[in-house]
Amino acid sequence: MRTARLLLAAATATALTALTGLTGCDGGVGGRPGGSGVRDPLFPRAGNGGYDVGHYDLALAYDPADRRLTGTATLTARATRHLSAFDLDLKGLDVDKVTVEGRAARFQHAGQELTVRPAEEPADGETFRVTVHYSGRPQTLTDADDSEEGWLPTADGAAGLGEPVGSMAWFPSNNHPSDKATYDLAMTVPEGLGVVSNGELTRQTTANGRTTFSWHTAEPMASYLATVAVGRWEVRRSTTGSGLPVYTAVDPTQAAASRANLARLPEIVDWEQQNFGPYPFASVGAIVDRPEDSGYALETQNRPYFPGAPSVGLLVHELSHQWYGDSVTPKTWRDMWLNEGFATYAEWLWEEDHGGDSAQDSFDAVWADEYFDDADENDEIWSFPPADPPDAASVSDHPVYERGAMVLHKIRQQVGDDAFRALLRGWPAAHRHGNADTDDFTAYVEKSAPDEDFSGIWKDWLYGDGKPDHP
Ligand code: TRP
Ligand code: ZN
Repeated sequence: MRTARLLLAAATATALTALTGLTGCDGGVGGRPGGSGVRDPLFPRAGNGGYDVGHYDLALAYDPADRRLTGTATLTARATRHLSAFDLDLKGLDVDKVTVEGRAARFQHAGQELTVRPAEEPADGETFRVTVHYSGRPQTLTDADDSEEGWLPTADGAAGLGEPVGSMAWFPSNNHPSDKATYDLAMTVPEGLGVVSNGELTRQTTANGRTTFSWHTAEPMASYLATVAVGRWEVRRSTTGSGLPVYTAVDPTQAAASRANLARLPEIVDWEQQNFGPYPFASVGAIVDRPEDSGYALETQNRPYFPGAPSVGLLVHELSHQWYGDSVTPKTWRDMWLNEGFATYAEWLWEEDHGGDSAQDSFDAVWADEYFDDADENDEIWSFPPADPPDAASVSDHPVYERGAMVLHKIRQQVGDDAFRALLRGWPAAHRHGNADTDDFTAYVEKSAPDEDFSGIWKDWLYGDGKPDHP
């Protein structure tokens, strides 16, 4: 796995050198290339410099029979410098044509970088539209930790899953959580199949044996949270007690096993609203595929994705990410514990509020190395500090989840229950639909309790190597 990643990095570096040469031949109209990557500490190649996307308009067609995707992606972006060239992230697939503001643009596609040289250079601050016409068989990507993402062919269709970088397998983007945007996604599939995505279904039309589903996401979304799921679906619509529309799509083979827990989704979301504040999006729901379709659940915006019938705890976890991760999104992949620490704590709090173990019990079990049945997993919790995963392979490891949750519990012990509940609501309110990093979080906590000293918690629990000396 590591070898494959190194080879990929080398290939992309060569392509970049070639491009630098190309830039040198430029007519000298003043712009510079935006460049690849936004210096993420764990994923240096993810995202691109020089612009900020405001909206994605994706018109896609997919046929599971030959696994071919045809797409037209129009991105509306604002240049953050005078641009002679800029990159989009797109891995695999064939680019047929690129236009910028309607004019054909030169482009080069190497590795995950699609470099576009517009005929007319966008000036600093200028809004421009880039359209990419592309097609091919989207790839399943294997992450540094061996998990699969990107485009996953399923028993009766496919699923696009993008954490951390897989969305580039099915649409061109500024593929980094720091650049959030609104989305329109329309996908055409053979009649009889359904398409579920983020946001709300605005239109469904059938012609010539093919059906097009149009989904609209009005709130900002990070590219890793975009999803599209093709297959046969049992669709149910309802509303939560607070009036929020619910749209669930369940693979028919999972319907019976999913029914009881999905019936509790409105209750879970309302409990989360009481604890975390107003739900941040216009609709909620779930997508339930088959267990073999993916190795994990994902908090895709509005509508988390589950491989098989979810437990109540997993529903609580993925739905809590709608606040912690989807609305307040990490600035970099190093800040991942802000997602998973909160989502794990949400599970602990649900248990506590529903007659199960208290969060203190869960904390104690982790401290006693008895949280998991497997001793190696208990050991892994202490393998690195939550705020500093050592590499790309570790962003989904236990320190990010359980030790992240322990940081929150240490804060609760220090400030007390009422102030802690206020913090659970205040943090997502302070960064609603934005991005935040660990420094933003510690500053927020310190400001919310100016008389308290949190430096010991930060030093031992957030940034310290190894197991702290005392619980
Ligand atoms: N975010 C998912 C969850 O907590 C898990 C996950 C899936 C993940 N893919 C990942 C975490 C990639 C980090 C990186 O349910
Ligand atoms: Zn999670």
